[in-house]
Amino acid sequence: MAIILKSKEEIEKMRRAGHVLAELLKVLATEIAPGMKTKELDRITVRELARQGAKSSFKGYRGYPAHLCVSVNDEIVHGIPGGRVLQEGDLVSLDVGTIVDGFQADAATTVGIGEISPSARRLMETCEGALWAGIGKARNHGRLGDISATIQEYVESRGFSVVREYTGHGIGRDMHEDPQVPNFGVPGEGLELHEGMALALEPMITSGAWRTRLGDNGWTVLTADGSLAAHFEHTVAVTLGEPEVLTVL
Ligand code: MF3
Ligand code: CO
Repeated sequence: MAIILKSKEEIEKMRRAGHVLAELLKVLATEIAPGMKTKELDRITVRELARQGAKSSFKGYRGYPAHLCVSVNDEIVHGIPGGRVLQEGDLVSLDVGTIVDGFQADAATTVGIGEISPSARRLMETCEGALWAGIGKARNHGRLGDISATIQEYVESRGFSVVREYTGHGIGRDMHEDPQVPNFGVPGEGLELHEGMALALEPMITSGAWRTRLGDNGWTVLTADGSLAAHFEHTVAVTLGEPEVLTVL
């Protein structure tokens, strides 16, 4: 286990990958609509990344067949875009990784299709709030456990559960670098954070229990109890000052 610290120049490349990704997620969130097949989102991703001169880090990763993950309702992560038709009321997580100049960014957002239930909206808002609360703890001389515990407390105090079997991660030249960043933990414990670390923070939360099951395609991760899931992710650089979120416009 080795943490790879990034230079200012490397962070700049990740900033560019992050900017492309933020732009892409904005386009996807605007174009997504009821009646659309999820594979249409893959087409939009290919088109937008080509336009911006970037590549998807997901396509071909351990044989993953698409350029992004689209996870609907009880699907938590790693949903493969295909023939499924999106319906009014669906809760859809969009997760993409980009590569620019050899450096990566990773981000996810969850969007509602048309009108969604108040409980689905609360789940979504809790997941995004938990991500930002965790980002606030990505500080020089802080601890990994501060991020993890803050996310867990934010989610559980609102009556939802955090998924345990999948975590955030370090990121740089590779999509998944050390350390793993769990969405549950103990404040003050774990690795000490330092300037130059780049972390993908990604709470995955459910309206029911935290246990998951793997779908028949061998990729899609679903809630074991069929409850709804949400997923938000940003790539963040630890600096001497405020955390820098790289996957924003
Ligand atoms: N964003 C996911 C993660 O951080 C990666 C998806 S795996 C892939 O773990 F195979 F779909 F690329
Ligand atoms: Co990730």
